[in-house]
Amino acid sequence: MIELSGLRKVYPSPGGDVVALDGIDLTVERGTVHGIVGRSGAGKSTLIRCLTGLERPTAGTVTVDGVTISDLPENRLRTARRKTGMVFQHVNLLDSRTIADNVAYPLEVAGVRRAQRAARVAELLDLVDLGHRASAYPAQLSGGQKQRVGIARALATEPAVLLCDEPTSALDGETTRQILGLVRDLRDRLGITVVVITHEPSVVRETCDAVTLLEHGRVVQSGTLAQVVTQVGSPLSRALVPVPDVPPGRRRRLVEAVFATDAVSTATAFGAVAGLGDDVEVLSATVEPLGALRVGRLLVDTPQERTDEVVARLRAAGLDPLAAPAGDAGQEVA
Ligand SMILES: Nc1ncnc2c1ncn2[C@@H]1O[C@H](COP(=O)(O)OP(=O)(O)O)[C@@H](O)[C@H]1O
Ligand SMILES: [Mg+2]
Repeated sequence: MIELSGLRKVYPSPGGDVVALDGIDLTVERGTVHGIVGRSGAGKSTLIRCLTGLERPTAGTVTVDGVTISDLPENRLRTARRKTGMVFQHVNLLDSRTIADNVAYPLEVAGVRRAQRAARVAELLDLVDLGHRASAYPAQLSGGQKQRVGIARALATEPAVLLCDEPTSALDGETTRQILGLVRDLRDRLGITVVVITHEPSVVRETCDAVTLLEHGRVVQSGTLAQVVTQVGSPLSRALVPVPDVPPGRRRRLVEAVFATDAVSTATAFGAVAGLGDDVEVLSATVEPLGALRVGRLLVDTPQERTDEVVARLRAAGLDPLAAPAGDAGQEVA
């Protein structure tokens, strides 16, 4: 659906060139919600602007829904841009227009006739559950409602892709949950592909099917949620399934395993450490929800000389454990 290949973006600047994107290869599958995470300055917004065609790549290609937009001449970009809808942190509605007329705006620009427009707007407002507020003005809406109008407006021209840059950063917890629920719902009902930029691990946990971590314009880690969290010790595993506060144990050697319960059952995983004897301590054995998955984690404190045996047991159970020097497992990463 979205295919980035060797994507590079350099901004010339007086103090020297700024390399915002430094060779990005990335595929986003149709009908999935894909999170882009990374620190401020990592290149997330630049990546989204390249997807909309607002920004021309310095090198590489951007293909959206079969069209290589990075190759298109300027006069064909405008139509191509209708393939992508944008949702921002701050919605920027036209205050003098009703909600319905705000949603109608991109249709007017696209030259859709009045009668068709009205039908489409009603449909869009129903989709975001705001049909009853069609004639209200932006000032009369809550932050979450405004964001829903923003989403309806972004969907007006039936884009194949919805691009969201920090869509919930300005919203409170409960409203954030509602908006994320709506995004999942749109994926399921419309089969739309969604790219969400966020700095909040909770947004990825609750909404994304796959996630990519950017650092200095490069992909550090990328994959489905199950793939990245089971790469034990990796930055995204640490960020999405944080190591719990555990009693310190004797801290001789820590062995850690993270698994998706649809791949390895909890009975098999936790059973693997049963009967190892009293000098092997289980510091933590947890299962928690992660989007549509459940993720288990085992933290085992073992005598140095028994590390290989413990690791072998966990491997035999289908896990991919990591043996870290005692004390390392609680370290903050990213
Ligand atoms: N229009 C621009 N001109 C010059 N430098 C830019 C421009 N836009 C972004 N940058 C630089 O590119 C890098 C990536 O920025 P950005 O994509 O906004 O990162 P993020 O969204 O992850 O915070 C940063 O170093 C930023 O300062
Ligand atoms: Mg940004």
